[in-house]
This record gives sequence, C-alpha cells and structure tokens, in this order.
Amino acid sequence: MGTITLINNETGKSYEFDLIDCTRGPKAINFSKLFETTGIFSYDPGYGSTAGCESTISYIDGKKGELLYKGIPIEDLVMHYSFSDICKFLISGDLPKNEQESLEFDLELRHRGFLHEKLKRMFDVFPDRAHPMATLSALVSVLSTLYVDYKDEGDTDDYQTMARRIIGKIPTMVAYCYRNSVGAPFIQPDISKSYIENFLYMLRGYPHSRLKHTIYGEQEISELEIKALNKILILHADHGQNASTTTVRNVASTGVHPYAAISSGISALWGPVHGGANEKVLRQLNEIGDVKNVDKFIARAKDKNDSFRLMGFGHRVYKNYDPRAKVLKTLKDELDQQGIKMDSYLSDIAQKVEEVALSDDYFKERGLYPNVDFYSGIILTALKIPTELFTPIFVMGRMPGWCAQLIEHNKNPHARITRPRQVYLGK
Ligand code: SDX
Repeated sequence: MGTITLINNETGKSYEFDLIDCTRGPKAINFSKLFETTGIFSYDPGYGSTAGCESTISYIDGKKGELLYKGIPIEDLVMHYSFSDICKFLISGDLPKNEQESLEFDLELRHRGFLHEKLKRMFDVFPDRAHPMATLSALVSVLSTLYVDYKDEGDTDDYQTMARRIIGKIPTMVAYCYRNSVGAPFIQPDISKSYIENFLYMLRGYPHSRLKHTIYGEQEISELEIKALNKILILHADHGQNASTTTVRNVASTGVHPYAAISSGISALWGPVHGGANEKVLRQLNEIGDVKNVDKFIARAKDKNDSFRLMGFGHRVYKNYDPRAKVLKTLKDELDQQGIKMDSYLSDIAQKVEEVALSDDYFKERGLYPNVDFYSGIILTALKIPTELFTPIFVMGRMPGWCAQLIEHNKNPHARITRPRQVYLGK
C-alpha cells in the first residue's frame, strides 16, 4: 500500500497517510486519523472528492460514462436479465443460475406483494393531491411497525427477508398511491402475473377505465411495455453513494430499523435535483411549450442570475454521457418505432433541447450531458405512466440497491455512526 505525505507549510510539520488501494477507479487517502494526527479537518462540502465507505456493489466511471453492477456492465445486464433477477443479484450477490431460479425469486416477490390491511387503511388519511413520494416515505416507515420483531427474526445476518419483503411490496404501494389519488379501488396483486406485469395490472386494472381522470382505457398490458419497464428499473437499481443512498447508510449507521433508513432514502430521492428530476423534466418540457421557446430556456439555464436549470442534464459524477441515458435513448427509439411515444410536440421539444444543449459550449465545457432522468421521464410518458409516479418508479428501481447498500453497511463490523465535522465560522 502506498503513502502520501502532507506538509503543513504554516508549521513545517509533515504527516504520512496510507493510500487505500481499490479494484477499480481512484485510490483514496486514508484520512480517518487526519484530525487525530494533525488537529486539522478536511473540508469537502457535498463530498465531491470524499469516499464515505468501501463498497463492492456498483462502480461508476464518470469520465468514460461507465456503470457496472458487481463488475458487470449494465448494458449486458439489461439485455439478458429481468429486474427481479437484478434484485436477487444485488441483495444476495448471485444472478439466478437458470430459468427455474429466476422464476422462483420472481414468485417470492409476487407473494410478498400483498399489503397488511392496516397499511391499506393508511391511504384514507392522505389527501387526494398528496405527492406519492410523501405517501411512500410514510408507508415504508409504518412498515417498520408491522415487523417490530425484525431484530429477533434471526435473519439480521443476511437481511434477505427484510430486502425481499420491501422489494415485493413497493410496487403495490406505488400502484395504490395512484389508485387512491383518482378514487379507484385497490386491486390485489395477481400472483399469476410477473413482478412487472403485476405492477401495471394493479395500476391500470378495471374498473379504472371508467374514471374521468383515466389516461388509459381498458387495454391489455403489452410485452413491449413490460420489457421497457424492466429495463428502466434495472438501470435505476443502484448508483454508488448518491445523495439518497448516502442518506440510507447514514440513517442505518445509528442502528435504526432498516425500513426507517429506507424511508429516509425515499425522502432524499424526492428532491428535484436528484430523483425528482424525471418528473421535473416533463413539467419543464410542458413549461417550454413550443420548439421556438427552447433557445430562450437554454439561455436561462446558462444565466448565472437565473436559478433555472435544465432538468435531466448534468451529473455530479458523469462528465460524459450517462450510460443509462444511452440505453434509454435506444429504448425510446425502439418504442417510437412501435408507436409508443409521447405527444409529438413534447417529443420535438425534447429533441430540440438535447440538440441545442449538446452543441452549446456552456454545456460542453462543464460536461453537462443528458442523464438518466432526461430519458426516463420521456419514456414513462410514452408508457402513459402518470407524471407524479415517475419518482416513485425510481424508488421501485432503486429499492434493491438501497437494500444491498444497507446490508453491506450492517454487515461491516467496522461500520461507525456517521458524524462529519464542520468548519466553524460563528462567534
Ligand atoms: C440523479 O448522484 C447520482 O448518482 C444521482 C443519480 C442516481 O442514479 O442516484 O444519478 C440520479 O440525481 C441524476 C441527476 C438528476 N438531476 C437533474 O437532472 C437536475 C439538473 N442537474 C443539476 O441540478 C446538476 O447537474 C446536478 C445536481 C445533477 C449536479 O450538480 P453538481 O455536481 O453540484 O454540479 P454543479 O452545481 O457544481 O455544476 C457545475 C456547473 C455550474 O456552473 P459553473 O458554476 O461552473 O458556472 O454546471 C452548471 C452549474 O451552474 N450546471 C448546470 C446544470 N447542471 C450543472 N447549468 C444548467 N443546467 C444544469 N442542469
């Protein structure tokens, strides 16, 4: 293991720190004893250059635009596996060995899709216009009260039950958030349908089509829609130590119930500059309203005196095309060819935004490219998913990643409670 020497030019003192080797990506300076050794803090607001943990789950190369889950590129995984396969992969470390194993795991998730009757009654207290991310965060927190004996369940070592339970239930919660908001009756999961098909069935199932709000009539759920949603969820499954995953790990570090930690991750993901961006992309395209207004909005995005930012563009880590956006762009084109597309005027605006931004020096100099949210918002619209469900669907996708990260944290015997320091500027 190499070392790095730090010289304090004020005192002339020098200090040596170990360099931590990693299997991919940048090394890290082991600063865990920095304060103890030097009496000085490191300062890195937003943690742009700081590793808060060791992990083996996902790897991101921001320069190359690369994302791997446990060493396998996402481009390979989306081609050959279902989302429930990837859930198994992330929480247990193994991909299904065969069709039978894949089906067995998917069946387990379906059986876990039913909600406690008391949990369903919680929907009565939420106003129709409640944002589903607020509802989801509350429901997941309440889920911890229904499994209070969790710590005694004896599986705290591998947390598999905890993970499979919440991965199984989250699609039902998301579907019920929408059904509740339009006054439609809840539909029980149908265990003869796959995990993804079940979600679309609970979301759209009859007598939904009689509702004036309805955005779909009585229609069969197509294989193409199931395949598209599978890919979208796989691409969202994990993404290193982003804001919401860091929140889950930080809250888990206090020893709290896993579902309380995940509930906090849902709240963090809701933010419009994080997971909430997919919903904001659609609202922004509608705000732009016409292709001829695009240049005006791009100018606003570049104006330092204007807080307007181009939703779906830029990323803390990717200074190249988000690899997930590339896969989604191909998926969008495939759906277009099959006639599954959003209203053409919105599609034209999105295309113009992308063209202008990608050719503009302001965006190129700053490495601002379309990210996962730019295309997921467009595709979910084409799939006729209600806009307010875009971020809840991000929650569905990220659930296995949060569980895997939480398991990794809790299984680490050296994991400590998160407790950053501060640069004090007060009196
Ligand atoms: C996700 O971290 C993850 O992995 C998250 C995520 C995941 O899978 O978990 O990938 C999911 O959150 C994707 C990001 C979705 N958010 C958006 O699309 C919202 C729009 N994007 C921006 O808000 C912004 O790009 C962030 C928040 C994503 C990244 O912000 P950073 O890293 O703090 O970038 P920055 O603010 O330091 O910006 C650097 C420069 C600044 O200009 P200068 O001060 O250098 O002149 O780029 C500018 C910014 O003003 N900039 C933008 C911009 N994003 C950055 N200018 C206009 N529009 C934008 N979208």
